[in-house]
Amino acid sequence: MVKICCLGAGYVGGPTMAVIALKCPSIEVVVVDISVSRITAWNSDQLPIYEPGLDEVVKSCRGNNLFFSSDVEKHVAEADIVFVSVNTPTKTRGLGAGKAADLTYWESAARMIADVSKSDKIVVEKSTVPVKTAEAIEKILTHNSKGVKYQILSNPEFLAEGTAIQDLFAPDRVLIGGRETPDGRRAIKALKDVYAHWVPEERILCTNLWSAELSKLAANAFLAQRISSVNAMSALCEATGADVAEVSHAVGKDTRIGHKFLNASVGFGGSCFQKDILNLVYICECNGLPEVANYWKQVIKVNDYQKNRFVNRIVSSMFNTVSGKKIAILGFAFKKDTGDTRETPAIDVCQGLLGDKARLSIYDPQVTEEQIQRDLSMNKFDWDHPVHLQPMSPSSVKQVSVVWDAYEAAKGAHGLCILTEWDEFKNLDYKKIYDNMPKPAFVFDGRNVVNPQKLREIGFIVYSIGKPLDSWLKDMPAVA
Ligand code: NAD
Ligand code: UGA
Repeated sequence: MVKICCLGAGYVGGPTMAVIALKCPSIEVVVVDISVSRITAWNSDQLPIYEPGLDEVVKSCRGNNLFFSSDVEKHVAEADIVFVSVNTPTKTRGLGAGKAADLTYWESAARMIADVSKSDKIVVEKSTVPVKTAEAIEKILTHNSKGVKYQILSNPEFLAEGTAIQDLFAPDRVLIGGRETPDGRRAIKALKDVYAHWVPEERILCTNLWSAELSKLAANAFLAQRISSVNAMSALCEATGADVAEVSHAVGKDTRIGHKFLNASVGFGGSCFQKDILNLVYICECNGLPEVANYWKQVIKVNDYQKNRFVNRIVSSMFNTVSGKKIAILGFAFKKDTGDTRETPAIDVCQGLLGDKARLSIYDPQVTEEQIQRDLSMNKFDWDHPVHLQPMSPSSVKQVSVVWDAYEAAKGAHGLCILTEWDEFKNLDYKKIYDNMPKPAFVFDGRNVVNPQKLREIGFIVYSIGKPLDSWLKDMPAVA
C-alpha cells in the first residue's frame, strides 16, 4: 500500500487529501499538522473549515484510509510521498517585507522531513511557493540526508474555496513539475498514477519544476488581473452611465475572452491573490525586471483603489460623515460558501468606516464574532502568521457588534453594505428592512446582488458597483 502524508491540515491539505483518499482506496493518507486543535476538529463532527460537500467526503473515508494526526514525525517517517501544504505568507519583516514569501514554515517542514526520514521519499510542493523553492528544499534535504534519497516535485493546487470539492473532483488540469532525470521522471510517474485514479490523462500536465512553480503564480495573477480589469471598468461605468454587468456580458461573449471571472466587486480577497502577486512582483524585482514588476503591482493598486472608492462612496453619500451612524454590514467572508475571512475586502471597508467613527453591526452566516473582532484588530499581513496573533483593540471592539441575522444588523441602521454575495441576501424582505431604518436609507451593494430598481421603488438610495448612479450620488461625488 502506498502511504501518503500531508503536512498542513488547512484549506488545501484537508480537502485535497480527503479527495485523494476517496478516489484511491488502495492508498493510505494521513494529514498531519502542528496545530493540535485543527487535527482535533478534523477528527470531530465539526470540521475546522466550511466547504460544501467536504463533510460527506471526509465521513466516507475517515478511519478507513484517511487519518488526521498530530504525530507529525511518525507519519512523515512512514510515508512514501510527503505533500507539504503549509502556509507561505507574505514576509512581515526583514528583507523583502511586505512582498516576498515567508518560507519559515516550509523550511522547518523540510528540516523535519530530513530529520525523521529513514527511507527514500518523494516530497511534493503543494503550497504556493516562489520559483526555485524546490532547489532550496532540495538543498536542505540532500545536505541532511543520511543516505536517504529525495525527489522534489511541484504540484501546485488550483482549487478555489467554496467550490473546492467540485474543483478537486474535476480539475481543469493537474500540474506536476519535476527534474528531467530518470529518477525525476519516475517520481513524476508515481504522482501521476495517484491522480490517474480519477483525472483523465490529458488533464495531467507534466513540466519541469520551474514551469510548474511559476504557472501557479501566473494563474493567480491572471485571474486577479481580470477582476482588477473589470473593477477599473466599473469606475468608468459609474462616470459615464454604462452598466458594468452589460459591459462584462458583451465583452465575455467574445470566446477569446470568455465570460468567467468578470464580475465587478468591492475588490478581490482571499488568502492568495494579493500574497501571490506580491511574491511575483518581488521575484521580478530580484531578477532585474522592474517594468514587469510594476505591471503586476498595478493589479493590487486597482484592487486597493476599488475598496477605497467604495468606502468613499458610503461616506460622501451620507453627508460626508458616518460618525456615530450605525452601518449594517451584510457578509464578511471573502466570497460566498466559505467562512474564510483572510484578506477579505470586508476588513478594509470596515476599517475605513471605523476610521470615520461609524458603528458597525455585522452579519455573516459562516463567520464567528471572535473571528470578525480579531480580523478588525489585526495588522496587515499578520493574519497568516499564527504565532503573531494580535490582541484585540478594545476601542474597535466597542464600535463593532456581530449579530446572527441580517434584519437585526439592519435595524436602525442608516446604511446597509453588502460585502459578500451570499445567496440569502438576494431574497431578503427589503421592505421590512427599509421600514426599520432612519431615512434617507442607503444600500451600498459591493457585490451586485440586489436589483437596484426594485430597491429604489421601496425608497432606498442605492449604490451598486459599476451601475448607473442615483441622482443623489451624482450630486455627492466621491473622491477615491
Ligand atoms: P492554512 O493556513 O489553512 O493551512 C496551513 C496549515 O499548515 C496550518 O494548519 C498550519 O498549522 C500548518 N503548518 C504550518 N507549518 C507546519 C509544519 N511545519 N508542519 C505541519 N503543519 C504545519 O493554509 P492553506 O489555505 O491551506 O494554504 C496552504 C498553501 O496552499 C499556501 O501556500 C497557499 O498559498 C496555497 N493555496 C491555497 C489555496 C486556498 O484556497 N486556500 C488554494 C491553492 C493554494
Ligand atoms: C483563487 C483561485 O481561483 C484558485 O484557482 C487558486 O487555487 C486560489 O485562489 C489560491 O491559490 O488560493 P479563491 O481565492 O479561493 O481561489 O477564490 P476565487 O473564486 O478565485 O475568488 C477570489 C476573490 O475574487 C473573491 O474575493 C471573489 O469574490 C473575487 N471575485 C471573483 C470577484 O470579485 N469577481 C469575480 O468575477 C470572481
